[in-house]
Parts: sequence; structure tokens; C-alpha cells
Amino acid sequence: MAKTLIAYFSHAGENWVNGGIGTLKRGNNEVVVDKLRVLLPGTDVFRIEPAKRYPERYQALIDVAKDELRAKARPALAADVANPEQYSTIVLGYPNWWGTMPMCVFTFLEAHQWAGKTIAPFCTHEGSGFGSSLTDLKRACPGANIAQGLSLYGSNVASADKQIEGFIKTLTL
Ligand SMILES: Cc1cc2nc3c(=O)[nH]c(=O)nc-3n(C[C@H](O)[C@H](O)[C@H](O)COP(=O)(O)O)c2cc1C
Repeated sequence: MAKTLIAYFSHAGENWVNGGIGTLKRGNNEVVVDKLRVLLPGTDVFRIEPAKRYPERYQALIDVAKDELRAKARPALAADVANPEQYSTIVLGYPNWWGTMPMCVFTFLEAHQWAGKTIAPFCTHEGSGFGSSLTDLKRACPGANIAQGLSLYGSNVASADKQIEGFIKTLTL
């Protein structure tokens, strides 16, 4: 049977919110995933986490993230998903970091074969939308079908139920 995986990265703690530094109890993508769990009950969920946690403080975090981007780093992950071949659709969530996906999301994607599978991306941001992440996603997942994605202002996720429902309806799950 065709199975779906929700895989996501999200950073709680200090983040860029509404034009300033704010503190998030739950990361924005985590909030979207909470809603996806309700819309897609029973779906497997995998949280992408680097082995070495990113700093919680915003200033330190953006420096680490920029260094990783410049170095094209592929930070080791705390854990990997079990048997990714069982999934035909991957709903992939991440924040826009410096115009693309956080480098640990690249680590996750490049560790597996996604050819023939559908990847449906959603991305939270504070103005840059997907940035170059869709192009980067295609490159990281050769042969995958990249579905129409959803980008949301991070500060709007709590009230984005309609958009999230619409996004899920576009997918053949
Ligand atoms: C390291 C870092 C880099 C960011 N770079 C961008 C950016 O280039 N463009 C943008 O619109 N938002 C940027 N943001 C804001 C995040 O994309 C936004 O706060 C997002 O909703 C965070 O999602 P999360 O709470 O799930 O991690 C950045 C945030 C961080 C921490």
C-alpha cells in the first residue's frame, strides 16, 4: 500500500518573527506538522535533527547556519528514518534559511534514493518564500516528482489551516 511520510526540520527557541527576534515555544514547521497530524491521522512523522544541536540564540544560530551554507556542510543527523523505501510520498517541511533549506535537510535528502517518489514541500519563511529551495530540492532528489508546494509566513502558521488543508488536497495520497 502507498504510504506517506511527513519529514520536517524546525527550530524552536529564538527565531526571526515579524521583523524582529522572537522566541517560539514550538517551531513554525512543528506547528504545521501538528495540523498535518490531524489531517493525515496515522501518518508516520520523522523529525530531522542534527546530531549537534543548533544554538538556541538567534545571533549564534544565523552565524552557524551561514557557515554551514558557505561550506556546503552536510551535518550528521541525530537519527535516520527507518526504511524510507516504504514511502511513496514524502511531505517535507523546513524553514527558509539563508534562501534555501537548512543544511541538515540536505543531509537527510542526499542519504536516500527518492527517484519515482513524490516529494511535497512546505516551507516557512519571513518574506523570501521558497527562495532557491525548490531548485535545490530537485537537484538533491534526482528522479523524484516534486509536487506543488506550500510556502507560509512563519508568523501566520497558527491561522493557516485553510492553506494547509488546500495543500494536502492537491496530493494524491
Ligand atoms: C538561520 C536563519 C536564516 C533565515 N533566513 C531566512 C531567509 O533567508 N529568508 C526568510 O524569509 N526567512 C529567513 N529566516 C526566517 C525563518 O525562515 C522563519 O522564521 C521560519 O518560519 C522558521 O521556521 P521554524 O520555526 O520551523 O524553524 C531565517 C531564520 C534563521 C534562523
